[in-house]
Amino acid sequence: MAGLFITFEGGEGSGKTTQLKGLLTHLRAEGRDVVETRDPGGTPIGKQIRSLLLNPANGGMAVVTELFLYEASRAQLVREVIRPALAVGRIVLCDRFADSTVAYQGHGRGLDLGLIARLNALAADGLRPDLTVLLDLDPEAGLARVGQRVTPPAERHDRIEGEVLGFHQRVRAGYLAIAAAEPDRVVRLDALHGMAEIEELIRRRVEGLLRSPVRPSGPGILASG
Ligand code: TMP
Repeated sequence: MAGLFITFEGGEGSGKTTQLKGLLTHLRAEGRDVVETRDPGGTPIGKQIRSLLLNPANGGMAVVTELFLYEASRAQLVREVIRPALAVGRIVLCDRFADSTVAYQGHGRGLDLGLIARLNALAADGLRPDLTVLLDLDPEAGLARVGQRVTPPAERHDRIEGEVLGFHQRVRAGYLAIAAAEPDRVVRLDALHGMAEIEELIRRRVEGLLRSPVRPSGPGILASG
């Protein structure tokens, strides 16, 4: 009994969280056993790390500190939530995962991609998503969406959202490079398409996977440790 591991990725304001919730509701209505989680976060330790990472007061955080904190939250999430859920055949929907570190700390901050790949493998315990939904959007449009949310101006931007536009453009280019390198795992969807249309495309991909007997995250294929 293999579970299914699906991640949602995208820049700020891409609508990935809304799409995750839509798929969650759909799968649960079908009677499927689904776990919803997010990275960074998803565990008591991860939630504490998340607040350190996103707090705008931590503007002095070194890039390497940031990298380790994302990896630390992920290491805990995989061991405490994702692996145990997959082991009993549950479907795991995760808001962001290791691709975010490649896009943000690798392409965005300029850290070495080989180093990030090794740290990601360690943190994720060799686990790779069966499917990654990438909601692709021009960062200018995404940041405008984030700005439009009904939060007081002072609280509008977390530490990462507040980065300059060039940073978010590099993040987008990073995601597109990941999608080009791994077309079987990553499905790139234009976030400007209508909500219902995107939802339908995601459902079709997931239904295909649920019918398929072989999955990368299934037992026997994972690295152990
Ligand atoms: P979000 O989960 O609400 O999208 O916020 C998480 C923020 O952290 C977002 O700006 C992306 C950023 N991030 C990284 O920079 N690296 C990572 O590895 C992850 C998972 C997120």
